[in-house]
Order: sequence, then C-alpha cells, then structure tokens
Amino acid sequence: MTDWIARWQEGKIGWHKNQLNSRLIEFIDCLKLSVNACVFVPLCGKNVDMLYFLDNGFKVLGVELSELATRQFFVENKLRFSTKRSGKFVIYSAKNIDIYCGDYFDFDASMLSKVSAVYDRASLISLPLVLRAKYAAHLYAIIPTD
Ligand SMILES: C[S@@+](CC[C@H](N)C(=O)[O-])C[C@H]1O[C@@H](n2cnc3c(N)ncnc32)[C@H](O)[C@@H]1O
Repeated sequence: MTDWIARWQEGKIGWHKNQLNSRLIEFIDCLKLSVNACVFVPLCGKNVDMLYFLDNGFKVLGVELSELATRQFFVENKLRFSTKRSGKFVIYSAKNIDIYCGDYFDFDASMLSKVSAVYDRASLISLPLVLRAKYAAHLYAIIPTD
C-alpha cells in the first residue's frame, strides 16, 4: 500500500488519463441507470470519468488510498470540497460526489447500500495477482444484492 502512496508523491502515475474513456461513453446506456443513481468507483485515483458521471446526473462514491490523489481530483477539476473523518476514512465531498480516502478493503456493505453500479477502470488489473481475487470477492461481498 505504501507503494501507491509513494507513486502519487513521486508523480509516477502513468495510468492516469486526462481524456474520458470512450468505452464508458459507448456502453453507459447499457446499464440503464436512472437519474441520481450512485456509481461506486473503487480505487478511483483522480479518474476524470467521475466527472462524466456527475455531468450526466449521477452521483459518485469513490474510494482511494492516496490523499494526494483525492485532493488533486477536486482541486484540478475546480470542485469546492469539504472533508470529514468517518472511522478509518477521511471523506472528501463536493456536490454529488464523495471520495473516501482510505483502504478499499475497509469498505463495508453499509457504505454501499445506495449504489446502483460499479465502475472499474484500471483498478482490478493494477493489483498483484494474489490481490485480484481478494478484490473481486470483497466487491461481491459489499455491493447490494440487487
Ligand atoms: C492504476 S491506479 C487506477 C486509478 C483509477 N481507477 C484510474 O483509472 O485512473 C490504481 C489506484 O488504486 C489506488 N489503490 C491501490 N490500492 C488501494 C486500496 N487498497 N484502497 C484504495 N485505493 C487503492 C492507488 O492509489 C491508485 O490510485
């Protein structure tokens, strides 16, 4: 985990894209999300696709280990934010978006009760093989059954 924090501090974030993911735009309608639906973005970094969700009337709930990344997301996108501590997390909030700064594996089902979709871009694949199964199992354990 300290590895990721260091990468953000050193600016070694080659995975980050400043453009929207064209696949998201192509396939978002398949999810048939209603306006105001909440999209969970695990290991979100400062992914700009979260802006696309906001611009299209959805809410976003992200989780990211690096506080630097989280702060950069709000500052670079000129979103006025507030912060508050909640258990093991510091929550960064702006209109329709909360990013929980902390460890994804500390998330529990009660925090995702209002989530209708999950958006993973470069998250599962960024983890070492041994952690990928754990990531997927944890996701299935905490997302709402419907
Ligand atoms: C390859 S990046 C992908 C970021 C983002 N999904 C994107 O598309 O730009 C992986 C991100 O996961 C974060 N991360 C790694 N392990 C984590 C954990 N256990 N909990 C929360 N975030 C984590 C890292 O800090 C990093 O920002």
